[in-house]
Amino acid sequence: MNNEQSPGAAGQQAATPGGVSSTDLRVGVVGIGWAGQQHLKAYADLDGVTIVSLAGMEQDLRDSLQAEYSIPDAFADWEDMLEHGGLDAVSVAVPTFLHAPIAIAALERGIHVLSEKPIARNAVEGQAMVDAARKAGRVLDVAFNHRRRGDIKALKEVIDAGGLGRPYYAKASWLRRSGIPTLGSWFTNPQLAGGGPLADIGVHALDYALHLLGEPKVVAVSAATHSELGPQGRGGGSRYSAQASSHPFEVEDFASAFLRLEGGGTLLIEASWATYRETDDQLEFTVYGTDGGAELKVHGAPFPPVGQLRVFTDRDGESADYVPQVLPGRAHDAVVEDFVTAVRGGEQAWAKHDGSLALYRAEIIDACYQSAREQREVRL
Ligand SMILES: NC(=O)c1ccc[n+]([C@@H]2O[C@H](COP(=O)([O-])OP(=O)(O)OC[C@H]3O[C@@H](n4cnc5c(N)ncnc54)[C@H](O)[C@@H]3O)[C@@H](O)[C@H]2O)c1
Repeated sequence: MNNEQSPGAAGQQAATPGGVSSTDLRVGVVGIGWAGQQHLKAYADLDGVTIVSLAGMEQDLRDSLQAEYSIPDAFADWEDMLEHGGLDAVSVAVPTFLHAPIAIAALERGIHVLSEKPIARNAVEGQAMVDAARKAGRVLDVAFNHRRRGDIKALKEVIDAGGLGRPYYAKASWLRRSGIPTLGSWFTNPQLAGGGPLADIGVHALDYALHLLGEPKVVAVSAATHSELGPQGRGGGSRYSAQASSHPFEVEDFASAFLRLEGGGTLLIEASWATYRETDDQLEFTVYGTDGGAELKVHGAPFPPVGQLRVFTDRDGESADYVPQVLPGRAHDAVVEDFVTAVRGGEQAWAKHDGSLALYRAEIIDACYQSAREQREVRL
């Protein structure tokens, strides 16, 4: 283990009341596909943050990003980057099987970690990451950028203010017609990805649903997965993985899961990479409560910054439906900024950012896959 990173190297002493210090934070980004590029852009926009290194296997892309962001050091492999040292924090935006080894190696060096979703291929790996964060006393955050949407934030305010009463049923979906993240890429190999659309985009739907519902415990799941189009070489998207390869399609291309929640509520999750439906991607959330309901519809590819959000309720027996005011959210910019704030926030903040929320999502997804395999309800 390399202990060259001194505890508190992230400028903790200089933290302002808002938590963000002007002391330079030295960050690195591993992975230069779509996800890694979101992290690079977000760090570059923050004061007091210097991107000191970059890792990714695509040399031309790596060279151009290194030049664009004036990054001193760039590496083909993540291990060389960590070995080189000089990092306070690192973003991990690589194929999912690498999340755990990179995060754990970084945490053992005292480096704070922002991992892409899902936390790992499964909850066992996720638990090892959380354990490493707690042992190191460092931040482990996981990027759930869709809960940062402005429409989801507005709906959360309605629900938290009691505007729907007690929610008892919800449905969250992310559906694509033709959006396998590159046929033949690591995404389609269960050993590299951990799963198909349920693990990839269903985890976003699960995350924003649980977030909106106030983090209820999930007591049981009943799920089904289907693999119909991908194995025939159909349903491929054209704008996804930076890494070309030729893996066979061995994950699901559609999944649905029915979740029983503590307190009697229920939640339906649907996720597809490929299925016969309208061409635009669809991200939706429906919720029914004792005093009102709401529907969020976000359709497009890419998704528009603000979707259609409607709240259904009544007053004195008359319909009092309305459309809440929504401002665009800040997606990865907000995720990265909150990570930097946590890193600047010192030990109390670090203890709260231990990855356990993302680990819980992995436990639920694991139970869904188990339910699908065994064709029965699985209790958590
Ligand atoms: N939050 C989101 O909305 C979102 C969107 C897309 C992807 N993701 C997640 O981000 C991660 C990456 O997805 P992507 O679409 O950017 O993938 P990608 O295939 O486009 O890019 C993967 C990157 O990892 C790099 N890499 C692989 N092995 C490496 C190694 N040994 N050392 C250094 N770099 C290595 C590759 O060179 C490549 O640059 C995944 O976990 C995915 O689930 C999140």
